[in-house]
Amino acid sequence: MTETDPELLGKAYDSRLMRRLWGVTRPHRRLVLFSMLLFPAVAALELLQPWLTKIAIDRYILTGDWPGLSRIAAAYLACLLVLYGLRVAISYLTQVAGQQVMHDLRAALFAHLQRQGAAFFDRSPVGRLMTRVLSDVEAINELFASGAMAVVGDVLTLGGIVVLMLVLNWELAMVTFALVPVLAAGAAYFRLKARESYRGVRTRLARLNGFLQESLQGMAVIQLVARERREAELFAGLNGDLRRAQFRSTFFDSMLYAGVEGMGSAVVALLLWYGGGQVLTGALTFGGLVAFLEYTGRFFLPIRDLGAKYTVMQAATVSAERVFGLLDAEPGIISPAGGAVAGLPGAAAVEFRNVWFAYEGEDWVLRDCSFMVAGGERVALVGPTGEGKSTIVRLMTRAYDVSRGQVLVGGRDVREWDLGALRRQVGVVPQEVFLFTGTVEDNLRVGAGAAAQNEEIERALRTSRADRVVASLPNGLRQEIRERGHNLSQGQRQLLAIARALLYNPSVLALDEATSSVDPESEALIRAGLEELLRGRTSVVIAHRLSTIQTADRIFVLHRGQVRESGRHAELLAQGGLYSRLYELQFGGIGP
Ligand SMILES: Nc1ncnc2c1ncn2[C@@H]1O[C@H](COP(=O)(O)OP(=O)(O)O)[C@@H](O)[C@H]1O
Ligand SMILES: [Mg+2]
Repeated sequence: MTETDPELLGKAYDSRLMRRLWGVTRPHRRLVLFSMLLFPAVAALELLQPWLTKIAIDRYILTGDWPGLSRIAAAYLACLLVLYGLRVAISYLTQVAGQQVMHDLRAALFAHLQRQGAAFFDRSPVGRLMTRVLSDVEAINELFASGAMAVVGDVLTLGGIVVLMLVLNWELAMVTFALVPVLAAGAAYFRLKARESYRGVRTRLARLNGFLQESLQGMAVIQLVARERREAELFAGLNGDLRRAQFRSTFFDSMLYAGVEGMGSAVVALLLWYGGGQVLTGALTFGGLVAFLEYTGRFFLPIRDLGAKYTVMQAATVSAERVFGLLDAEPGIISPAGGAVAGLPGAAAVEFRNVWFAYEGEDWVLRDCSFMVAGGERVALVGPTGEGKSTIVRLMTRAYDVSRGQVLVGGRDVREWDLGALRRQVGVVPQEVFLFTGTVEDNLRVGAGAAAQNEEIERALRTSRADRVVASLPNGLRQEIRERGHNLSQGQRQLLAIARALLYNPSVLALDEATSSVDPESEALIRAGLEELLRGRTSVVIAHRLSTIQTADRIFVLHRGQVRESGRHAELLAQGGLYSRLYELQFGGIGP
């Protein structure tokens, strides 16, 4: 939940990142360039306004020239209208450009995430990836909406004002410029404080967020064990922390604005006094003084807001770094160029050859594990929970790569297979069935493609006994699956997954405790369907029920990362080794 806070990291500008960002804008560069072309016009009009005021006063008001004054007022109005129009155009264009870039970045990130292997998702919490795709991209957009682009305009305006001030009266201009460091320092101080306290707010908000998420997800359990009081107290504590942090932040925010405002007024007073003297000596016209005061206001505004823009740039830079960092993360598992795509004739053999595998570092799950499943053979894999049974299935589909050794499917290293082709050959009915948003039918057709005939679907449903599940749904096959299938029970989902595998028609099939959540009665019914499913295929069945084990050609007993015993049920039982002990524990010894 907690992320490195963007404001802890200083860099606001990184030329390498900026060049990459600039590259991302390529398809929309016309928009960006066109809006940039408008900046000089805006700056010119901004500078023109006070100058018109000066002319109005000196030339027409002080001389009582009413028609002249009307003309200049009209010019002023026209200037305002054009300025307004240009501002609208710039704001619209830059935001549209920003939204296009955001859209492209989100698309690129999602496409990239789809290419990542399972190991990547073990390392990256979903919350963090969501932040990358949504919030970080949004922060980059701020560059367009209010950050870097506006700075370009500000710099132009500032430069023009400096020149005009010097032209009007250089002494007065020097007085003003002398005050800039004071103002900048004051603003910087309060901004630093404000940022510090804002950081406090963010940390506390993240804490509250994390707590809330956990608490809401576990609400059913919390209520079950009557822990509501305790949870409420914890929440109240975090909630109070957040409020205190926000008070502090608000205080400095107010100080920042009021303080800078106050300093600005002091400058105006000083200029009135000093500039008034200049008017009296004739070094400056009255209109010139008024124009000068207006320029001063326009001069300090961008300087005051520079800090805010700096923060935006900083946040955007950090976000850009993260987004590009994610885009640069090469997928660990890549389909080899020119990998084998040929379909396997019938049932393919599966072999593990001295496989070492660890999810992390040296925590070996498989140690020098070797076994061979012949084409068409039915193997049952048994072993205590956490022994690595599911891991073996994952290695067969190359969800992970082995650390050492080889996994071969159809006599070929899985790393030589085209990834898509491999996964079409090796079907898995996983322990945790994942259903997609969509209808039941959509979910069944996954992998089988749209080509699957309705009769095939019906047959698959009948064989797997999932037809009863479908019949029990109000809308049958058209039933919408919600939230990954939470409107179905675990057992119902498993039945649908078996039907899906039947339609998928793979040459090697792995069942990972595929019927663990199905009641014994239904399981007895499915058994016939499973027979059908397994016939003519190579299969690795992770079994938790005796019935499945007994019908296997061979049983592999997994222990300490290796297959320690293998053979038929009766043989292994007679050996009196690991299997007989496991059997004793798991099935209470009631056997044939
Ligand atoms: N994604 C993962 N990241 C890290 N460790 C894992 C991961 N999945 C499983 N493990 C660990 O690997 C070991 C084997 O897990 P698994 O193959 O799921 O066991 P089984 O299916 O036999 O119950 C366990 O110790 C488990 O904690
Ligand atoms: Mg498992």
